[in-house]
Amino acid sequence: MLELPPPKDDGLIIPEVGQWSRDKHHFLLRYIDAFTTAMHKKRWAGLHYIDLFAGAGIERLKKSKQLDWGSPLIAAQARYAFDGLHLCEFDEQRCHALGTRLRTTKTKSEIQVLRGNANEKVHEIVTSIPSRALCLAFLDPYGLHLDYETLKTLAVRRADLIIFFPDRLDILRNWETYYWDNPKSNLDRVMGPDADWRGVRDSTPRNRWLKAFLGLYRTQIAKLGYTEFEQEAIPSTGRRLYWLIFCSRSKIGVRIWRKIALKKPDKQNTFYFDA
Ligand SMILES: C[S@@+](CC[C@H](N)C(=O)[O-])C[C@H]1O[C@@H](n2cnc3c(N)ncnc32)[C@H](O)[C@@H]1O
Repeated sequence: MLELPPPKDDGLIIPEVGQWSRDKHHFLLRYIDAFTTAMHKKRWAGLHYIDLFAGAGIERLKKSKQLDWGSPLIAAQARYAFDGLHLCEFDEQRCHALGTRLRTTKTKSEIQVLRGNANEKVHEIVTSIPSRALCLAFLDPYGLHLDYETLKTLAVRRADLIIFFPDRLDILRNWETYYWDNPKSNLDRVMGPDADWRGVRDSTPRNRWLKAFLGLYRTQIAKLGYTEFEQEAIPSTGRRLYWLIFCSRSKIGVRIWRKIALKKPDKQNTFYFDA
């Protein structure tokens, strides 16, 4: 499996992140490596990587102060280069750092970096990808900011999805705000217009809410044609913080995910259990 040498401090912005960020990159790097290795010679009109909440390209782990590659730079260093990297980042300084860092890599991939709101820029990204291409989309906002409509837009391309789903991090902390205050709350936008999450919440005992929300989210994504789902619990201080959800329309994609996910970030080939 591909191992990347650690990044160096280049003087540009380096956001500080928790250890869980490294854990999600563990799965992303392994999937990218296995996916591009398996697919680069196949019949697709190109392999494309989409990262709608791309970050600055390098991160610093809060506790250890170690530097870690961000998701787009992991994709840029794939052993078999993607034909295109399609990246979006809202923050100006991060977006500038990302563009600069990408230019210093020797990637053969064509690069599209857009600054702005992912839920708007997704249209521009999708239209710049050939319709018969195979894509991997890494969708990694800080909280409930990935609109269901954005997934719908992505669904016109053949794309495996790796989605950050902050159920404990955001839904559980803020559900009252979402429940009472606003029919177009973040949670409504993430779940989609026809997802009765309030009804699910009302009919489910509190200790089952998280499982019920995960089930509802998967059901919503399945409506877009996705048939295969897996998820990884990403913990912090011994508790799951959020899910990393893998979605595919292909048995091959999910087979690859299952294989790479056998190895957990703590280097033990064990399953993390979460109720
Ligand atoms: C969790 S960080 C991304 C980390 C990156 N994916 C990685 O793994 O290295 C989320 C990023 O999304 C950006 N962001 C927040 N809201 C956004 C939006 N609506 N559209 C695009 N980017 C956004 C933030 O500035 C931040 O850099």
